[in-house]
Amino acid sequence: MHDHDNGVSNPSKNRPFRDVLEVSMSRRKMMMGSLATAATAYVASSSVALAAKGGLKGPNAGKGGSELIGFKPVTLEAANVVDSGKMPLISPDYEYQTLISWGEKLYPSAPVTPYEGDPNTRPTGVEQELLIGIGHDGMTFFPKGGKSNTEGMLAINHEFGNNFHVLGKGTPATLNEVRASQHAHGVSVVALQKIDGTWQQVDSPNARRIHVNTPVEFSGPVAGHELLKTPKGNPTLGTVNNCSNGETPWGTYLTCEENFNGYFGAAGEWVATPRQARYGFSRNGFGYGWHLFDERFDLSNPDYANEENRFGWVVEIDPNDGTQTPVKRTALGRFKHEGAEVTVGRGGRMVVYMGDDERFDYIYKFVSDDNWKSMRARGLHPLDHGKLYVAKFNDDGTGNWLELTIKHPALAASFKDQAEVLTFARLAADVLGATPMDRPEWASVAPNGDVYCTLTNNSRRTVPDAANPLAPNNDGHIIRWRDDDQHVGTSFVWDIFLIAETTHRTEQSFSDPDGIWVDPDGRVFIQTDGGQKDGLRNQMLVADAEGKEIRRLFVGLNGDEITGIAYTPDRRTMFINTQHPGNGNPELTNFPANPGTGKIPRDTTFVITKKDGGIIGS
Ligand code: FEO
Ligand code: CA
Ligand code: CA
Ligand code: CA
Repeated sequence: MHDHDNGVSNPSKNRPFRDVLEVSMSRRKMMMGSLATAATAYVASSSVALAAKGGLKGPNAGKGGSELIGFKPVTLEAANVVDSGKMPLISPDYEYQTLISWGEKLYPSAPVTPYEGDPNTRPTGVEQELLIGIGHDGMTFFPKGGKSNTEGMLAINHEFGNNFHVLGKGTPATLNEVRASQHAHGVSVVALQKIDGTWQQVDSPNARRIHVNTPVEFSGPVAGHELLKTPKGNPTLGTVNNCSNGETPWGTYLTCEENFNGYFGAAGEWVATPRQARYGFSRNGFGYGWHLFDERFDLSNPDYANEENRFGWVVEIDPNDGTQTPVKRTALGRFKHEGAEVTVGRGGRMVVYMGDDERFDYIYKFVSDDNWKSMRARGLHPLDHGKLYVAKFNDDGTGNWLELTIKHPALAASFKDQAEVLTFARLAADVLGATPMDRPEWASVAPNGDVYCTLTNNSRRTVPDAANPLAPNNDGHIIRWRDDDQHVGTSFVWDIFLIAETTHRTEQSFSDPDGIWVDPDGRVFIQTDGGQKDGLRNQMLVADAEGKEIRRLFVGLNGDEITGIAYTPDRRTMFINTQHPGNGNPELTNFPANPGTGKIPRDTTFVITKKDGGIIGS
């Protein structure tokens, strides 16, 4: 968990006092075990109700194994061994190998010297363009021919690396150092092949780095709009703070720009407009100092007015065409995009569920205008034409998708056109009365159509509501909903799947859920990012859809988070990441180098397999 995730920029107070009173009363009744209150059907099966009935023993108290999840978990005892946080821990039924650590070559024949963690040096900006980036996060494996279990392209996000980690110092002193930081961010596309039982990088013309200075295009309703033009007329370049991800049925990768605001700053006089403030722009950003040497990131430079509107989008990348220009799909709105969970809704329409990860921000959904195949056949991109909605969770277990459209009178009164609504989606959602959530992170659609979404935590919540029932919410929860019309409707029903706090002081203990994936058998993979309880570090667990069985598959390193889930079609190989191991401090861990080597720890991908060759999670 990092400071940049800790802001609040929603001043809209989207909740009338009358609602608040009702909610705090209904929550009190729930916690006392009265199930006859609002949302009975849903809440009755939730862990709120279980916790009320059974106390804080955890939802799995007294349960044995399950057929779905049979592996031996990493125990609290194993995770609490002194110095265990210098190396990862995995279930005794599983094993891992490592791949593509920060600083390794982008492809084996790349003409560059890899960086191996020497504390006295760091990659230059020029070198970093041919090296794997830092901040490993969301990723997708694109199997060769659509079905290979041993060969394909892996697209992986590089969310961030702080200056101490990337540069070995707090502030860049030159433009070259800014470039080293910029080129460590973005995306890598690498070619992988399993050779003699070991996954390896191989050469490919489609292996590439996409970073903060890579040419990009805009498409959809905001493309060509004044809001994306600068007085300087500089080209549209780059993607940054690439957090989670998605993939389309036509084989492309979606990378999501999350905390983009933190890379901008002001070298001269500057006061945030209300719209800039709503997106969290500030004089010093997160301290990267790019604006001191790169005018593009200087909010006070009038030549680059609107440059900041070019970030905060979902970006489409073709992993099998190294010459393709990445495209920012503006119909999906501009906010702090965590992820983009793509599914096919009724009539073959494209549906994308998206969280905006900030305290008191919202959950969104995009629905394409028509069947995605027919749109493509007509030369229309399915992610360029459609409706964007924001979620309102009612306290009775129902919910509504509110359309962000300029046709809505309240939005027509505040915005000039649809492009402005999309560029300032947060403010449009404020106007419509969306429900402020406890930091929406990843979403995943289960095989039965339920959509799971992690709400990682919100220590600043003072007033609970049914969908965010803890105040403060220090450890997070997971909500789920089912749309009324195969993902394309405007209403839904919801319940709470798990409240992290109810697992504490049990073998199922976890906090701060972030990455989530429900596999085709219904196993719920949960990855964490934040201070874990019970002596644990960040981890990956596997739960069943009842939330009764929760087993710990993997435990990470001191100072890291566990994030990113990709897999082969047979699900017998899974890829996950350690992000910011040791927060870059070699005293906490030297991973992937061995303990005691003094090496700078580096973000790394783990390839996980089950020793008996079984499906991951079984
Ligand atoms: Fe990039 Fe909200 O995690
Ligand atoms: Ca992160
Ligand atoms: Ca995350
Ligand atoms: Ca997080």
